[in-house]
Amino acid sequence: MEKLSRYIIEHSSQEHEALKWIRKQTNLRTNHARMLSGPTQGALLTMLVRISSAKNILEVGTFTGYSTCCLGLGLPEGGHIDSLELNDELNDIIFGGWERAGLKHCISLHNGDALKTLEVLAGQIAEGFKPQYDLAFIDANKRQYRSYFDAVFPMIRPGGIILADNTLWNGKVLEEPLPSDAQTVELAAFNRMIASRKDLDAFILPLRDGLTFIRKK
Ligand SMILES: C[S@@+](CC[C@H](N)C(=O)[O-])C[C@H]1O[C@@H](n2cnc3c(N)ncnc32)[C@H](O)[C@@H]1O
Repeated sequence: MEKLSRYIIEHSSQEHEALKWIRKQTNLRTNHARMLSGPTQGALLTMLVRISSAKNILEVGTFTGYSTCCLGLGLPEGGHIDSLELNDELNDIIFGGWERAGLKHCISLHNGDALKTLEVLAGQIAEGFKPQYDLAFIDANKRQYRSYFDAVFPMIRPGGIILADNTLWNGKVLEEPLPSDAQTVELAAFNRMIASRKDLDAFILPLRDGLTFIRKK
């Protein structure tokens, strides 16, 4: 599997220097480097933004700004990202990476609880101060995926895309009986809810830890 991952990375577009810098800083300064999207999923995020021509993007769960940067590298001129993160201790890595990628001017970082920030952003959209989003990437607290989805879905334009990360949760959502930890229970319920909805199309890509593609009808 490692050989396959290496082959895919070596034969895809090369990782931007800013992304390498973020990865290095994340490894040096945090104990959670496995939370990063990484080069393969990162390249997919950039590609998705490019092929969908998404201009207004929402990200729930910034961490050290790696996936934000991947989304940003696909943005057209005049595009914008709102990225939501609870922890403000990593802001120097986040801003350092975005600066190196030449993206600082087109990303707004919102520190605080995502559900509260989403409420504020929804108000701004409702009042016409902001356009609906073309694409959203959900990758924060796994215990709150349905709440994030409920908040984000109305903010997405018809035809827009929501990506939800870690939806296979290392295969735990498939286990019978289902493990009782809060994250697995929530992700399994999220997957069932998405599969039952008639107002969207969905597909789980078994890349890394599972990436669900949701297209609003
Ligand atoms: C898996 S990491 C995000 C990784 C990032 N998207 C990437 O691929 O590089 C999840 C992040 O969500 C943040 N988070 C957790 N609960 C949150 C909340 N209630 N509001 C906002 N952010 C939250 C965590 O602090 C963590 O940095």
